Order: sequence, then structure tokens, then C-alpha cells
Amino acid sequence: MGPIGVFDSGYGGLTVLRDLRKRLPQYDYLYLGDNARAPYGSRSFDIVYRFTLEAVEKLFSMGCRMVVLACNTASAKALRTIQQHDLERIAPGRRVLGVIRPTTEILGSLSRNSHVGLFATPGTVSSGSYEIEVSKLWPQIKLTTHACPMWVPLVENLEADAPGADYFVKKEIDAIFAKDPQIDTLVLACTHYPLLLNKIKQYVADRADIVRQGEIVAESLADYLSRHPEIERELKRGASCQFLTTENPEKFNSLGEIFLSHPLKAQRVEIPM
Ligand code: DGL
Repeated sequence: MGPIGVFDSGYGGLTVLRDLRKRLPQYDYLYLGDNARAPYGSRSFDIVYRFTLEAVEKLFSMGCRMVVLACNTASAKALRTIQQHDLERIAPGRRVLGVIRPTTEILGSLSRNSHVGLFATPGTVSSGSYEIEVSKLWPQIKLTTHACPMWVPLVENLEADAPGADYFVKKEIDAIFAKDPQIDTLVLACTHYPLLLNKIKQYVADRADIVRQGEIVAESLADYLSRHPEIERELKRGASCQFLTTENPEKFNSLGEIFLSHPLKAQRVEIPM
């Protein structure tokens, strides 16, 4: 038996972990942030794939029975290849899940007029992953994706609530509504964006509903585990959580607390193994 691994390029996945632990508190979790190599959002396919694969192998080598890629960029650029080509070799019988499929699955039930907007990193947007999934599940949805390259740095530099953030938040919101003024549902498809929620809500106002991923991913994992008892049986139920970072643990502790909304104590790990 072992923990659920949760992987992100850095701190952002802690917003997803928070919701996973709220929905499924009974399990053990092992969180890994690849802060030394973050951000992933502007990196190429092969680099994101290689870094993500190394992180997933690390989490499996530390006993995880399954890994959730909390990072949209890693889910967009690495998940499919890992599932199809690597998993059988590196960890037969174990699972790697991402955040794109669960998010896409509920979109059709959220939008009333089938006009959906989606904010993400440049890497996620250029991968076209959301368009591919949405067109398979909800062909009637008109999806407008939009990259917000400044939003992750704003959050990481603790400027999310500062007046300077308003300019960049308003700019991207104006841009997405200029592409499709009928959008009634806006998805925050990046781990960091929930930390800009107050400002996003302010500038979106009543034009659209805003969708955060954490709760969706948590609900989807609960459903997955109920349908896969053979995996669920292997998960350790100690209600614990350990944190690993590839960078300075003290820095991770202080910034991580903002993402997680409570104190944490991280340890440093090296990847690749
Ligand atoms: N975790 C990434 C995501 O959700 C954002 C941070 C990064 O660019 O590494 O896409």
C-alpha cells in the first residue's frame, strides 16, 4: 500500500491538493513540486515530457500507487505519452491521471449557451489539448482558449493582490471576451489562477461563471476510485501528507503556505533519481 502522488511544476498543484484532501481526507498523499525547473508553462513538448516522466518515476519509486498530474501543462504535454508508452514499463498496474479530462467532462453541464472560455499557460494553449478533448465530448461547445503568460509570475512574486495585477488580469479578460463576447463559462485551467480569483471575479463581473479545477479533479478522483476498487485497495489510509521540492525547502514552505492555506514542511529531493 502507498500514498497518492500529486505532481506539479511547483507550488500551484497545492491548490489541487487542498481540494483532494478536503474531498478524500482518508488517504496518504505525497506532493512533489519541481520548483528547480519551474515554470513549465513556456517550455517545449519534449522538455515538459522528460521532466514530468522523471517526476512520476520518482513518485513511484517512493511508493506511490497512483499519481495525479495536478499541472495543466504537464497534463497537456506529457500525460498521454506516459500513459501509452511508459507506464507499463516503469510501474505496471499503477495509474497516472491528469486534470484535463475531468475538467472537460463536466463542461457540457456547466455552460448554458455552449460558449466556453479557458485561461491557461502558453504551453497548455499551444498544445491544443483542451480543444481535442472538448471536441470529442462536447462537439457543440465553442471553446475559446487564451494564454495568460503574466499570471503565473504575478502569483509567484506575491503580486496577486497588488494593484499592478489589475492591469494584467483585466487585459486578458478583455481579450477573451473580444474573441467571443458570448462566453458564459470561464475555466481557470492553470494551478496558479485560483489565487487571482478575487480580481478575475471583479473584472468578469456577471458576464460568466468562473470554474476552478480543484473541486472538479477531487470529485473525479473520488468517482474513479469508486469504479476501480483494485486501485483503491492499494491506497494507504493514514490521512497524512508529505511535501517534496527539488528547490529550497524553506522557500517552498513559505510560498506553499499561501497556495495550501495552511503551514507545511517540505523536504528536498533530487530528480532524476
Ligand atoms: N502548474 C502550471 C500549470 O498548471 C503552471 C505553472 C508553470 O508554468 O509551471 O499549467
